[in-house]
Amino acid sequence: MASMSHLSFSRTTTTSPFFPPSQKPTNSKRHQVPKVTCKNNNNNGSHNNHLNSNAEKQPPPSSSNNNNILGNRRDVLIGLGGLYGSSTLTNNIINPFAFAAPLAPDLKTCGPPTLPAGAKPTKCCPPPSTTVKDFVFPQQNLPLRIRKPAQLVANDSEYVAKYKEAIRLMKSLPEDDPRNFTQQANVHCAYCHNSYHQVGFPNLDLQVHFSWIFFPFHRWYLYFYERMLGSLINDPSFALPYWNWDSPDGMEIPAIFTERNSPLYNELRNANHQPPTLVDLNWNKKDVDTSGNVDANLAIMYRQVYEARRARCFFGKPFRAGQEPYTVKVGSGTLELVPHNVVHSWTGDITQPNTENMGALYSAARDPIFYSHHANVDRMWSIWNSFNRKDIDDSDWLDSSFLFYDENKDLVRVKIRDCLDTKKLGYDFLDQPLPWTNAKPKPRRTKIERVVKPLTVTKSVQFPLKLEKIVSTVVNRPAKSRSKEDKEEKEETLVIEVEFDRRRGVKFDVLINEEEDAKFATPVNREFAGSFVNVSHVQTSISMITDTNFSIGITELLEDLGADDDDSVVVTLVPQYGEGVVIKDIKIDLETC
Ligand code: C2O
Repeated sequence: MASMSHLSFSRTTTTSPFFPPSQKPTNSKRHQVPKVTCKNNNNNGSHNNHLNSNAEKQPPPSSSNNNNILGNRRDVLIGLGGLYGSSTLTNNIINPFAFAAPLAPDLKTCGPPTLPAGAKPTKCCPPPSTTVKDFVFPQQNLPLRIRKPAQLVANDSEYVAKYKEAIRLMKSLPEDDPRNFTQQANVHCAYCHNSYHQVGFPNLDLQVHFSWIFFPFHRWYLYFYERMLGSLINDPSFALPYWNWDSPDGMEIPAIFTERNSPLYNELRNANHQPPTLVDLNWNKKDVDTSGNVDANLAIMYRQVYEARRARCFFGKPFRAGQEPYTVKVGSGTLELVPHNVVHSWTGDITQPNTENMGALYSAARDPIFYSHHANVDRMWSIWNSFNRKDIDDSDWLDSSFLFYDENKDLVRVKIRDCLDTKKLGYDFLDQPLPWTNAKPKPRRTKIERVVKPLTVTKSVQFPLKLEKIVSTVVNRPAKSRSKEDKEEKEETLVIEVEFDRRRGVKFDVLINEEEDAKFATPVNREFAGSFVNVSHVQTSISMITDTNFSIGITELLEDLGADDDDSVVVTLVPQYGEGVVIKDIKIDLETC
């Protein structure tokens, strides 16, 4: 087993944990911060892998061969405590059995993002601060801020006026004010473009997409943004509107964002997607008549939210301190891929080099619509909880932390565990009908059709496979005809290991028990199991090859297709757009997604 005993510390003397960006080492990804050195560092990759394999699993506390790791982990934490002077780490140090390795961003080494050659340099890091406060809950006896659907608030002229005024004020703050609109947009850029490294692991990036930290990071981000807007207009009840793309009345770009000359307007959006065009949650970069979108959109919502019963399916794979963000151990949850990523790509301006603003992660938050898109993403988490589904119960997740400036310009450290209840954060959502909870997709081919014309694919393809055309392959199942209890305990999961280039927008669809007619299957068909979607990052000459674990829970789908007693299934991949996708493996396993 890999051990962390290669690690040694040569700590730099650090008086303040934060210093201005001008004094920071130049390039984030390539500079070496001399805090943790690896004696055996002839190969950075293997160094990281060592850390990975340790960080990935949480061994039982009593396991004796973990003593080394525990000892070293404690050193790491003590090192952090020293550097950070953080009281929040004390628990881990006192309790040697707490093997927690929650993520934390290192503001001290925040560096420039990777940007297109020749682009105007953008500094995404926030202004420096000499202090960091631990989060304190807002006063609990105030009325809740109620987030309402954007199509509804459009009729409330008083609200719209306030919202515009708040954004106008935010845009007119001095450039270096952390509450300034561009600074707020850069918060997203920094957390998604490798500006931050992980505390204790200076060679490892902190990335808030592609894993289980996606939902909580964005919840916190909006929390502070919303409170800043409220404080700028002196209205603590101010709440962001949500883009209700899951419901037929909310599927257009909300009217409040389309009025030119409004501070809520942004020029860089897809000109073909203006109202009354309905959002296509299965957008393949082709615009067709959108009247049929409603059914497909609702079926997608059913599949991605209602059917994603397990926390790991819904939230994504674990991402713990010491892990590389771009490996097959990490992967997005259902909702992040679809519809979240699709709505980004659908909204961005296709004539821009990177479909800015919404269609690229570095620029997305420059469009005020971003925050309404994410208010709905955030609402989906609350709705998912309302179906009586439990959040992740893993201290590495719960104790992962982020840094944000608040409405008083104080830098605040927040933990995921403190954002699980929106009411404790002072807000809630106005209930709206959820027409997708009974929009379950139906099999395209009937049982009889399947008997009359059985599938012809009988072999598995060889991996790795460049995904350039429609491919079908047989995938064996580890178990069949399982009992109800067994199904409740373990989700049958289709696991696709994907290599792609983060610079590019990518989409491919996954069909089960469909083959040559694959192109006819749509999300209203049960055979359509899901899609892998990447929002483009940015055009740059530096390649951003990324591995990821794309998992789809298929227990219920196989029952609906009448395939539960079969030894194997046929999996068909349908590339829709984006080059450079390599499928490294496809398998089915029984795990919690
Ligand atoms: Cu951080 Cu919608 O992405």
